[in-house]
Amino acid sequence: MILIFLGTAGSGKTTITASFGGYLEKNGNSVGYVNLDTGVKKLPYKPDIDVRDIITVEELMKEGYGPNGAIVESYDRLLSHADEILSGILELDEELDYLLIDTPGQMESFLFHEFGMRITSGLKEPLAAYLFGPDILRRPSDYCFVKFFAIMIDLRLGTTTVPVLNKVDLIREEELSSIRRLLEDIDYLNARLKLDPSMQGFLAYRICSFLPEVSPPVRVVYASAKTGEGFDELETLSYEHYCTCGDLT
Ligand code: GTP
Repeated sequence: MILIFLGTAGSGKTTITASFGGYLEKNGNSVGYVNLDTGVKKLPYKPDIDVRDIITVEELMKEGYGPNGAIVESYDRLLSHADEILSGILELDEELDYLLIDTPGQMESFLFHEFGMRITSGLKEPLAAYLFGPDILRRPSDYCFVKFFAIMIDLRLGTTTVPVLNKVDLIREEELSSIRRLLEDIDYLNARLKLDPSMQGFLAYRICSFLPEVSPPVRVVYASAKTGEGFDELETLSYEHYCTCGDLT
């Protein structure tokens, strides 16, 4: 089973790759780790495949690239190694119960670059976990944004994407139940959006009304890479994905 962790910088991809991997190993699974982040300095897990063996952002900055240019250049250079990285991933997947893929710090380096497409298009039925933090959920329209972003990842990468609200250890219990309602009850979210008189509210309302038609039936996982909360749910979802091929209701 291959699980790809995606998310904006700081959403917790690297931490959850290590802690969820540790959780799976403790439950008796064999787990492999893949690092696709050319910019990361230290990893809290031992990668079986590490793109930094080929190129790092640090090396490119020494060649004179600025920080953003170095990130883009690193994935340009990795493109010619994409097949070899992909074969390594597929080989490991044959041998192990789980393969966890940690993606670049800046999500756009994976979503917008040919390298990310080449890797994901070679995987069979990949499952992506889209990590976001509670800090992004301020207004009802943000909930609409998060739900649509998961669909955009499906659209771009051809994955099935599970939205994972990470860092739930930072949320108070009563706040979490209101977050859950907005993420899970589409009628309630639409009713809240309808009350927003701004242009943004109107746009979110129209887009969200369309959600039930286009959104695959996927549950939201509430997790903490720090405490391990929600890992049982993430494990169940990964298992269900590979057993039932995509039905994550
Ligand atoms: P990049 O470094 O940009 O690749 O970020 P990333 O998405 O890999 O995030 P990373 O795992 O480096 O975590 C970013 C910060 O969030 C670190 O300080 C982590 O310790 C912290 N963090 C990650 N997950 C959690 C969580 O579940 N709870 C809390 N409280 N902090 C977390």
